[in-house]
Amino acid sequence: MKYFLDTADIKAIARLYELYPISGVTTNPTIISNENRDYLEILRDIRNVIGDESMLHVQTLSTNAETMIKEAEFLKEVIGGNLYIKIPVIPEGIKAIKILKSKGMKITATAIFTPQQALMAAVAGAHYVAPYVNRIDNISCDGFNVVKEIVLLLNNYNLDTKVLAASFKNVQQIHNVALVGGHSITANPDLIDDLLKHPLTDWSVDKFIHDWEKIYGDKKMIMYNLHKK
Ligand code: E4P
Repeated sequence: MKYFLDTADIKAIARLYELYPISGVTTNPTIISNENRDYLEILRDIRNVIGDESMLHVQTLSTNAETMIKEAEFLKEVIGGNLYIKIPVIPEGIKAIKILKSKGMKITATAIFTPQQALMAAVAGAHYVAPYVNRIDNISCDGFNVVKEIVLLLNNYNLDTKVLAASFKNVQQIHNVALVGGHSITANPDLIDDLLKHPLTDWSVDKFIHDWEKIYGDKKMIMYNLHKK
């Protein structure tokens, strides 16, 4: 499983990169707009925090292939590093994916709602396909099942493309995707924190400390005796 942060919040990115095994950051035009400042500055700030090796996924805005390719080349030049260009799976997007692939660019096919969209994008050359789990769930369909079928199709056709499941609103959705072999997920920082939360974990940690302190006192931690020797 690879974990990505679906955010442009620089402080949150820095905090979670320090704590967790994070493989990259994903953005989309909505996420960038929410920051309400110069978008290139935002992307450069993210790159500075995560470094050149970490994956940064940035979306194009155009709806025609020619301009998508220009946007992709511009982003590659100004942001650089391990950059993935997110392209929506509209017909012009599939055309852009084919051309960008032939130019050696890394591509994430996005705005995926059906297994056939993912398969077409994968055959066109996308490195990642991003199904929107919660947006699928919200129209009374099953986002988890869409991911399951995408994984099956990629395996059936022996494609190297990986699933980057997106649009999560709760831990159970992420768990379901992990159970069916979704290769990676992207979620907002709060939801990534939620993956670790359990009241009994906190209770257990508090009890360990309480029991220890009853005998050894509040200043005598594990290292104390080592220092005495
Ligand atoms: C990521 O690639 C998607 O753009 C994003 O996860 C969409 O999430 P949302 O449905 O919460 O907006």
